[in-house]
Amino acid sequence: MCGIVGYVGRPGAPGAAAEGGPAVVLEGLRRLEYRGYDSAGIAVVTGDGVAVRKRAGKLANLVELLDADPLPDTGTAIGHTRWATHGGPTDANAHPHVDAAGRVAVIHNGIVENFAALRAELTEAGVEFTSETDTEVVAHLLGAQYRLTPDLTEAMRAVCARLEGAFTLLAVHADAPGTIVGARRNSPLVVGLGEGANYLGSDVAAFIAHTREALELGQDQVVTITPDEVRVVGFDGTPAQGRRFHVDWDASAAEKGGFPSFMAKEIHDQPQAIADTLLGRTDAAGRLQLDEMKITEAELRSIDKIVVIACGTAAYAGQVAKYAIEHWCRIPVEVELAHEFRYRDPVVSERTLVVAISQSGETMDTIMAVRHAREQGAKVLAICNTNGSTIPRESDAALYTHAGPEIAVASTKAFLAQITACYLLGLYLAQLRGNKFADEVAEVLAQLHEVPGQVRQVLDGLEQVREIARSMADTRSVLFLGRHVGYPVAMEGALKLKELAYIHAEGFAAGELKHGPIALVEPGQPVFVVVPSPRGRDSLHAKVVSNIQEVRARGARTLVIAEQGDTDVEPYADVVIRVPRTSTLLSPLLAVVPLQVFACELATAKGLDVDQPRNLAKSVTVE
Ligand code: G6P
Repeated sequence: MCGIVGYVGRPGAPGAAAEGGPAVVLEGLRRLEYRGYDSAGIAVVTGDGVAVRKRAGKLANLVELLDADPLPDTGTAIGHTRWATHGGPTDANAHPHVDAAGRVAVIHNGIVENFAALRAELTEAGVEFTSETDTEVVAHLLGAQYRLTPDLTEAMRAVCARLEGAFTLLAVHADAPGTIVGARRNSPLVVGLGEGANYLGSDVAAFIAHTREALELGQDQVVTITPDEVRVVGFDGTPAQGRRFHVDWDASAAEKGGFPSFMAKEIHDQPQAIADTLLGRTDAAGRLQLDEMKITEAELRSIDKIVVIACGTAAYAGQVAKYAIEHWCRIPVEVELAHEFRYRDPVVSERTLVVAISQSGETMDTIMAVRHAREQGAKVLAICNTNGSTIPRESDAALYTHAGPEIAVASTKAFLAQITACYLLGLYLAQLRGNKFADEVAEVLAQLHEVPGQVRQVLDGLEQVREIARSMADTRSVLFLGRHVGYPVAMEGALKLKELAYIHAEGFAAGELKHGPIALVEPGQPVFVVVPSPRGRDSLHAKVVSNIQEVRARGARTLVIAEQGDTDVEPYADVVIRVPRTSTLLSPLLAVVPLQVFACELATAKGLDVDQPRNLAKSVTVE
């Protein structure tokens, strides 16, 4: 959702940025823009008040405003990039928001659910609002509270006690230069630790150019930073300590590295993302090991059901996991969208393992589902790409994907890393529960270790896909078919095309074709078909080849993704896109890559911004 940055630095201190506060915050906002990009703003504390610049639209509009009307170069600044919830993306609704006296400035990520009641109360008291946001309510409350208790930390605690919902807040006050106060409930906030300078950010990307030392905050905590001090207290006033951690990637990992977009770079990062996720997973005896496994082996042996919960692309990784884990471990696996799981009455027990998959670890729908599952007594294992984020912190165990920072809004490398982590989990359980012998696990692991090289081969041979994509810039609808693990691949291919190119796209189970979707096929309709290996089981391959014939007979243009050497598809394919041979269960890691490249190239040909598609946000921190 929204991106939040805060900076306090003592000019000339060893760890302070050479630039002034506004420049440091602007740089942080650039790295967080993926979180929301419909407006942006910065506030600084000056000698006689707070000064604010804010603008609707992308960050470039704010930069233009700052060039025309610069902010003073002070060492205390906060900044915000917004994904609108309350009130449209206008200059007035952009953050920061100030109180009526112009003494306090506030930025906010999340939703204050009781804002209407608070707004009514303030209006009654004579406050005039200048925006439609829930955030402005906080600015007025904080301004008033500070007049009663002139200590920004205490004032923030008192205000938070009145707020319902999920929020990260940062505030500065004209009377407290060199201080930023932050608060978090169910919404992300991390502290960056420098020497003579400290930072706040929605995630570490906000300050990675300045420090890799960070502090994770707990729920319902208020943090106060000055250039030399970081103090944390609970909303109830109890002193608290954050958990310190070192960020194991640097600023260059969050740059485009010569690619035209983050999306293009992240697609090319995929071999590394898989390799890094596989790294160091076996002990000296060759047995698989996972990260923070706080679920006992006895508990894992006793589970009788797995429920995977996730949203968006992560949910498709879960669907791939279902095929692999059921096959390897003989445990029933359900896959459910986190928001659907949360608001029905799911049947889970102490013997259910809930696997929450999330790149960001901050998707509110998934967080709520995790909490619900734990309340019902289930054990929760998080598969996550973001160390220190809420989902792994609130889970019983965590398995980290090491994809590095994913900046483009639509997920690519995190998806392949999630699938890889799911395979590791499946193999781990199979080993632990005795479903597979050590040499069988080792064989699959060996195949997995070949996949990064195979993805590289796929990426090296995609000029044909790029050309096709460029020639299809006017296409209005594309269908995707797959069976077995090819089915989630088809759905992910369709999702990428919707997200990036705004083209109507649907992914179907190929077997379902004749039960409805085939009515959509008319002459010229492009249909991608993900074909399983001819070496696989149960005549799956032959069935999909028949499906290609069925759509072709009705005039479809068939774009077929098939294994090298599979000649059966050639008579029925208008285009064959080749992927290297691997086992059926591992094939999604290869088959999805051409579909990602297709969507990215087609959107680029349409002149669209592939990194920041309209209406979307990278991390959806509201329900
Ligand atoms: C948003 C993003 C998707 C992502 C989904 C889940 O909708 O646009 O790309 O798949 O959230 O995000 P998570 O961080 O939980 O994996």
